[in-house]
Amino acid sequence: MRFAGTADLFSFKETSSMTMEKIRIAIQKSGRLSEKSLELLKEAGITLNNGSRKLRSVARSFPLEVIYLRDDDIPQYVEDGVAHIGIVGENEYVEKGCAVDLVERLGFSRCRLSVAIPKSMDYRGTEDLQGMRIATSYPVILNNFLGERGIRADVHVLSGSVELAPSIGVADAIFDIVSSGSTLISNGLKEVETAMESEAVIIAGRNLDTGIQQLLGNLLFRVRSVLAASNNKYILLNAPNEKLQEIIGVIPGMKSPTVMPLAEEGWSSVHSVLSEKTFWEVIDRLKELGAQGILVIPIEKMIV
Ligand code: PRP
Ligand code: ZN
Repeated sequence: MRFAGTADLFSFKETSSMTMEKIRIAIQKSGRLSEKSLELLKEAGITLNNGSRKLRSVARSFPLEVIYLRDDDIPQYVEDGVAHIGIVGENEYVEKGCAVDLVERLGFSRCRLSVAIPKSMDYRGTEDLQGMRIATSYPVILNNFLGERGIRADVHVLSGSVELAPSIGVADAIFDIVSSGSTLISNGLKEVETAMESEAVIIAGRNLDTGIQQLLGNLLFRVRSVLAASNNKYILLNAPNEKLQEIIGVIPGMKSPTVMPLAEEGWSSVHSVLSEKTFWEVIDRLKELGAQGILVIPIEKMIV
Protein backbone atom coordinates (compact mmCIF):
# COMPACT_ATOMS: atom_id res chain seq x y z
CA MET A 1 0.00 0.00 0.00
CA ARG A 2 2.73 2.35 0.94
CA PHE A 3 4.56 1.82 -2.32
CA ALA A 4 1.43 2.25 -4.34
CA GLY A 5 0.70 5.48 -2.50
CA THR A 6 4.14 6.93 -3.20
CA ALA A 7 3.95 5.88 -6.82
CA ASP A 8 0.59 7.62 -7.16
CA LEU A 9 1.96 10.76 -5.63
CA PHE A 10 4.98 10.64 -7.93
CA SER A 11 2.95 10.17 -11.07
CA PHE A 12 0.59 12.93 -9.95
CA LYS A 13 3.51 15.34 -9.59
CA GLU A 14 4.85 14.31 -12.98
CA THR A 15 1.62 14.90 -14.85
CA SER A 16 0.75 18.05 -13.01
CA SER A 17 4.12 19.65 -13.73
CA MET A 18 3.78 18.59 -17.36
CA THR A 19 0.33 20.10 -17.71
CA MET A 20 1.55 23.27 -15.97
CA GLU A 21 4.05 24.01 -18.69
CA LYS A 22 2.54 26.41 -21.18
CA ILE A 23 4.13 28.40 -23.93
CA ARG A 24 3.49 32.08 -23.35
CA ILE A 25 2.92 34.18 -26.45
CA ALA A 26 2.80 37.99 -26.54
CA ILE A 27 0.29 39.49 -28.92
CA GLN A 28 -0.50 43.11 -29.72
CA LYS A 29 -3.29 44.39 -27.46
CA SER A 30 -4.95 46.45 -30.17
CA GLY A 31 -3.83 47.70 -33.51
CA ARG A 32 -2.85 46.53 -36.94
CA LEU A 33 -1.62 43.10 -35.82
CA SER A 34 -3.94 42.00 -33.04
CA GLU A 35 -6.95 40.66 -34.91
CA LYS A 36 -4.95 38.75 -37.51
CA SER A 37 -2.70 37.28 -34.80
CA LEU A 38 -5.70 35.87 -32.93
CA GLU A 39 -7.19 34.62 -36.18
CA LEU A 40 -3.96 32.75 -36.96
CA LEU A 41 -4.05 31.03 -33.56
CA LYS A 42 -7.67 30.09 -34.15
CA GLU A 43 -6.88 28.59 -37.55
CA ALA A 44 -4.08 26.65 -35.87
CA GLY A 45 -6.75 25.08 -33.65
CA ILE A 46 -5.99 27.19 -30.61
CA THR A 47 -9.15 28.55 -29.02
CA LEU A 48 -8.88 31.02 -26.21
CA ASN A 49 -11.00 31.01 -23.12
CA ASN A 50 -12.10 34.60 -23.53
CA GLY A 51 -12.34 36.55 -26.72
CA SER A 52 -12.36 39.90 -24.99
CA ARG A 53 -9.21 41.90 -24.47
CA LYS A 54 -7.95 41.07 -21.03
CA LEU A 55 -4.36 41.18 -19.96
CA ARG A 56 -4.01 37.47 -20.57
CA SER A 57 -5.99 34.47 -21.67
CA VAL A 58 -5.42 30.74 -21.60
CA ALA A 59 -5.99 28.37 -24.50
CA ARG A 60 -8.28 25.40 -24.04
CA SER A 61 -6.94 23.05 -26.66
CA PHE A 62 -3.19 23.69 -26.50
CA PRO A 63 -0.81 24.42 -23.60
CA LEU A 64 -0.59 28.09 -24.43
CA GLU A 65 -1.20 31.37 -22.72
CA VAL A 66 -1.57 34.75 -24.44
CA ILE A 67 -0.46 38.02 -22.91
CA TYR A 68 -1.61 41.23 -24.57
CA LEU A 69 0.97 44.02 -24.88
CA ARG A 70 1.78 47.13 -26.90
CA ASP A 71 3.61 45.99 -30.05
CA ASP A 72 6.57 48.27 -29.25
CA ASP A 73 7.10 46.38 -25.97
CA ILE A 74 6.92 42.84 -27.32
CA PRO A 75 10.58 42.34 -28.41
CA GLN A 76 11.87 43.35 -24.98
CA TYR A 77 9.38 41.14 -23.11
CA VAL A 78 10.46 38.20 -25.26
CA GLU A 79 14.14 38.94 -24.71
CA ASP A 80 13.49 39.10 -20.95
CA GLY A 81 11.62 35.79 -21.01
CA VAL A 82 8.35 37.28 -19.72
CA ALA A 83 6.87 35.83 -22.91
CA HIS A 84 8.54 32.90 -24.69
CA ILE A 85 7.49 34.07 -28.13
CA GLY A 86 5.63 36.97 -29.70
CA ILE A 87 3.87 38.08 -32.84
CA VAL A 88 5.16 41.48 -33.82
CA GLY A 89 5.74 43.69 -36.86
CA GLU A 90 9.13 43.08 -38.42
CA ASN A 91 9.62 46.85 -38.10
CA GLU A 92 9.48 46.61 -34.29
CA TYR A 93 11.77 43.58 -34.32
CA VAL A 94 14.39 45.45 -36.37
CA GLU A 95 13.98 48.77 -34.54
CA LYS A 96 14.36 47.32 -31.04
CA GLY A 97 17.35 45.13 -31.96
CA CYS A 98 16.58 42.78 -29.06
CA ALA A 99 18.34 39.44 -28.52
CA VAL A 100 15.48 37.36 -29.96
CA ASP A 101 15.19 35.18 -33.07
CA LEU A 102 12.84 35.66 -36.00
CA VAL A 103 11.38 32.15 -36.40
CA GLU A 104 8.57 32.62 -38.92
CA ARG A 105 7.29 35.23 -41.36
CA LEU A 106 3.52 35.38 -41.33
CA GLY A 107 2.70 37.38 -44.46
CA PHE A 108 -0.02 39.55 -42.92
CA SER A 109 -0.04 43.19 -41.74
CA ARG A 110 2.29 44.14 -44.54
CA CYS A 111 3.49 47.72 -44.55
CA ARG A 112 6.57 49.75 -45.38
CA LEU A 113 8.65 52.31 -43.55
CA SER A 114 8.96 55.41 -45.64
CA VAL A 115 10.10 58.99 -45.66
CA ALA A 116 7.33 61.44 -46.54
CA ILE A 117 7.43 65.19 -47.12
CA PRO A 118 4.78 67.88 -47.69
CA LYS A 119 3.06 67.37 -51.05
CA SER A 120 4.10 70.78 -52.35
CA MET A 121 7.82 70.31 -51.64
CA ASP A 122 10.12 69.44 -54.57
CA TYR A 123 12.11 66.26 -54.30
CA ARG A 124 14.96 65.07 -56.54
CA GLY A 125 16.63 62.39 -54.45
CA THR A 126 18.00 61.36 -51.06
CA GLU A 127 20.44 64.31 -51.05
CA ASP A 128 17.40 66.56 -50.54
CA LEU A 129 17.03 65.01 -47.07
CA GLN A 130 20.39 66.52 -46.07
CA GLY A 131 19.94 68.77 -43.05
CA MET A 132 16.19 68.16 -42.78
CA ARG A 133 14.37 67.70 -39.49
CA ILE A 134 12.72 64.28 -39.73
CA ALA A 135 10.19 63.11 -37.14
CA THR A 136 9.87 59.38 -36.45
CA SER A 137 9.17 56.62 -33.95
CA TYR A 138 11.79 54.49 -35.70
CA PRO A 139 15.12 56.29 -35.17
CA VAL A 140 17.29 53.15 -35.49
CA ILE A 141 15.92 52.16 -38.89
CA LEU A 142 15.95 55.77 -40.09
CA ASN A 143 19.52 56.41 -38.95
CA ASN A 144 20.69 53.23 -40.71
CA PHE A 145 18.94 54.30 -43.88
CA LEU A 146 20.45 57.79 -43.76
CA GLY A 147 23.88 56.54 -42.66
CA GLU A 148 24.14 54.09 -45.57
CA ARG A 149 23.51 56.97 -47.96
CA GLY A 150 25.82 59.44 -46.24
CA ILE A 151 22.95 61.78 -45.36
CA ARG A 152 23.08 63.88 -42.21
CA ALA A 153 19.66 64.85 -40.94
CA ASP A 154 18.20 65.96 -37.67
CA VAL A 155 16.16 63.00 -36.37
CA HIS A 156 13.37 63.91 -33.93
CA VAL A 157 11.93 61.01 -31.97
CA LEU A 158 8.17 61.17 -31.39
CA SER A 159 6.16 58.33 -29.91
CA GLY A 160 2.97 58.94 -31.89
CA SER A 161 1.06 61.17 -34.31
CA VAL A 162 4.25 61.58 -36.30
CA GLU A 163 2.27 62.54 -39.40
CA LEU A 164 1.23 65.83 -37.75
CA ALA A 165 4.82 67.04 -37.24
CA PRO A 166 5.30 68.89 -40.58
CA SER A 167 2.00 70.78 -40.37
CA ILE A 168 2.72 72.05 -36.86
CA GLY A 169 6.23 73.06 -37.87
CA VAL A 170 8.25 70.68 -35.70
CA ALA A 171 9.70 68.77 -38.66
CA ASP A 172 10.27 69.07 -42.42
CA ALA A 173 9.65 65.40 -43.11
CA ILE A 174 8.48 62.23 -41.38
CA PHE A 175 9.59 58.61 -41.39
CA ASP A 176 6.75 56.25 -40.50
CA ILE A 177 4.70 53.18 -41.32
CA VAL A 178 2.76 53.39 -44.56
CA SER A 179 0.16 50.80 -45.34
CA SER A 180 -2.76 52.05 -47.44
CA GLY A 181 -1.18 55.51 -47.67
CA SER A 182 -4.35 57.23 -46.50
CA THR A 183 -2.73 58.75 -43.40
CA LEU A 184 -0.18 60.48 -45.63
CA ILE A 185 -2.84 61.75 -48.03
CA SER A 186 -5.05 63.12 -45.28
CA ASN A 187 -2.06 64.98 -43.85
CA GLY A 188 -0.94 66.47 -47.16
CA LEU A 189 2.21 64.37 -47.36
CA LYS A 190 3.84 62.34 -50.15
CA GLU A 191 6.06 59.28 -49.87
CA VAL A 192 9.54 59.82 -51.31
CA GLU A 193 11.76 57.00 -49.99
CA THR A 194 11.13 53.48 -48.69
CA ALA A 195 13.64 52.11 -46.18
CA MET A 196 12.11 48.71 -45.48
CA GLU A 197 9.15 46.43 -46.11
CA SER A 198 7.59 44.81 -43.08
CA GLU A 199 5.15 42.02 -42.23
CA ALA A 200 4.06 40.22 -39.07
CA VAL A 201 6.66 37.75 -37.76
CA ILE A 202 7.00 35.32 -34.87
CA ILE A 203 9.95 36.04 -32.62
CA ALA A 204 11.28 33.67 -29.97
CA GLY A 205 13.51 34.00 -26.94
CA ARG A 206 16.99 32.47 -27.13
CA ASN A 207 17.04 30.48 -23.90
CA LEU A 208 13.84 28.46 -24.03
CA ASP A 209 13.90 25.23 -22.04
CA THR A 210 13.36 21.91 -23.82
CA GLY A 211 9.67 21.62 -22.98
CA ILE A 212 8.92 25.08 -24.34
CA GLN A 213 11.02 24.44 -27.42
CA GLN A 214 8.92 21.36 -28.07
CA LEU A 215 5.70 23.34 -27.73
CA LEU A 216 7.13 25.97 -30.06
CA GLY A 217 7.91 23.23 -32.59
CA ASN A 218 4.32 21.96 -32.40
CA LEU A 219 2.91 25.45 -32.72
CA LEU A 220 5.15 26.31 -35.70
CA PHE A 221 4.13 23.07 -37.41
CA ARG A 222 0.47 24.10 -37.12
CA VAL A 223 1.16 27.68 -38.17
CA ARG A 224 3.09 26.53 -41.24
CA SER A 225 0.23 24.23 -42.23
CA VAL A 226 -2.18 27.15 -41.99
CA LEU A 227 0.12 29.42 -44.02
CA ALA A 228 0.75 26.77 -46.66
CA ALA A 229 -2.98 26.15 -47.01
CA SER A 230 -3.75 29.83 -47.46
CA ASN A 231 -0.94 30.17 -49.99
CA ASN A 232 -2.11 27.21 -52.06
CA LYS A 233 -5.17 25.98 -53.88
CA TYR A 234 -6.29 22.53 -54.90
CA ILE A 235 -6.71 22.24 -58.68
CA LEU A 236 -8.53 19.64 -60.78
CA LEU A 237 -8.58 19.66 -64.56
CA ASN A 238 -9.04 17.51 -67.62
CA ALA A 239 -5.97 17.20 -69.83
CA PRO A 240 -5.56 15.88 -73.35
CA ASN A 241 -3.13 12.95 -73.06
CA GLU A 242 -0.73 14.30 -75.68
CA LYS A 243 -0.17 17.39 -73.48
CA LEU A 244 -0.15 15.52 -70.17
CA GLN A 245 3.60 15.74 -69.49
CA GLU A 246 3.69 19.47 -70.22
CA ILE A 247 0.66 20.08 -68.01
CA ILE A 248 2.22 18.09 -65.16
CA GLY A 249 5.35 20.23 -65.60
CA VAL A 250 3.26 23.36 -64.93
CA ILE A 251 1.55 21.97 -61.78
CA PRO A 252 4.08 19.67 -60.12
CA GLY A 253 2.15 19.63 -56.81
CA MET A 254 3.51 18.58 -53.44
CA LYS A 255 5.10 15.34 -54.59
CA SER A 256 3.61 14.77 -58.02
CA PRO A 257 0.08 15.21 -59.32
CA THR A 258 -2.57 12.51 -59.26
CA VAL A 259 -3.40 11.43 -62.82
CA MET A 260 -6.44 9.25 -63.63
CA PRO A 261 -7.82 8.25 -67.02
CA LEU A 262 -11.17 9.78 -67.97
CA ALA A 263 -13.94 7.58 -69.39
CA GLU A 264 -13.44 9.46 -72.62
CA GLU A 265 -10.50 8.06 -74.61
CA GLY A 266 -7.43 10.31 -74.88
CA TRP A 267 -8.15 12.39 -71.76
CA SER A 268 -6.96 12.32 -68.15
CA SER A 269 -8.03 13.97 -64.95
CA VAL A 270 -5.17 15.73 -63.14
CA HIS A 271 -5.30 16.79 -59.45
CA SER A 272 -2.60 18.95 -57.94
CA VAL A 273 -1.74 21.89 -55.72
CA LEU A 274 -1.17 25.39 -57.02
CA SER A 275 0.60 28.34 -55.43
CA GLU A 276 -1.38 31.55 -54.96
CA LYS A 277 1.64 33.60 -56.05
CA THR A 278 1.75 32.36 -59.64
CA PHE A 279 -1.94 31.49 -59.83
CA TRP A 280 -3.03 33.43 -62.95
CA GLU A 281 0.16 32.76 -64.93
CA VAL A 282 -0.29 29.03 -64.34
CA ILE A 283 -3.99 29.10 -65.24
CA ASP A 284 -3.20 30.95 -68.50
CA ARG A 285 -0.50 28.41 -69.35
CA LEU A 286 -2.84 25.47 -68.60
CA LYS A 287 -5.47 26.91 -70.95
CA GLU A 288 -2.87 27.32 -73.69
CA LEU A 289 -1.97 23.65 -73.24
CA GLY A 290 -5.59 22.64 -73.79
CA ALA A 291 -6.64 21.90 -70.21
CA GLN A 292 -10.42 21.90 -69.74
CA GLY A 293 -12.90 21.85 -66.88
CA ILE A 294 -10.45 23.54 -64.51
CA LEU A 295 -11.72 23.63 -60.89
CA VAL A 296 -9.87 25.45 -58.12
CA ILE A 297 -10.74 24.69 -54.51
CA PRO A 298 -9.48 26.28 -51.27
CA ILE A 299 -7.41 24.09 -48.97
CA GLU A 300 -8.41 23.93 -45.31
CA LYS A 301 -5.02 22.74 -43.95
CA MET A 302 -1.88 21.63 -45.72
CA ILE A 303 0.48 19.38 -43.78
CA VAL A 304 3.98 20.29 -44.91
C1 PRP B 1 0.60 53.64 -38.44
C2 PRP B 1 1.32 54.91 -38.85
C3 PRP B 1 0.27 55.71 -39.57
C4 PRP B 1 -0.64 54.65 -40.15
C5 PRP B 1 -0.39 54.43 -41.62
O1 PRP B 1 0.03 53.76 -37.19
O2 PRP B 1 1.83 55.58 -37.72
O3 PRP B 1 -0.43 56.51 -38.66
O4 PRP B 1 -0.38 53.44 -39.45
O5 PRP B 1 -1.31 53.55 -42.20
P1 PRP B 1 -2.05 53.90 -43.58
O6 PRP B 1 -0.97 54.11 -44.62
O7 PRP B 1 -2.89 52.70 -43.89
O8 PRP B 1 -2.87 55.13 -43.38
P2 PRP B 1 -0.61 52.50 -36.43
O9 PRP B 1 -2.08 52.58 -36.54
O10 PRP B 1 0.03 51.23 -36.84
O11 PRP B 1 -0.24 52.79 -34.94
P3 PRP B 1 1.20 52.75 -34.22
O12 PRP B 1 2.18 53.40 -35.14
O13 PRP B 1 0.96 53.52 -32.96
O14 PRP B 1 1.53 51.31 -33.94
ZN1 ZN C 1 3.02 50.95 -32.15
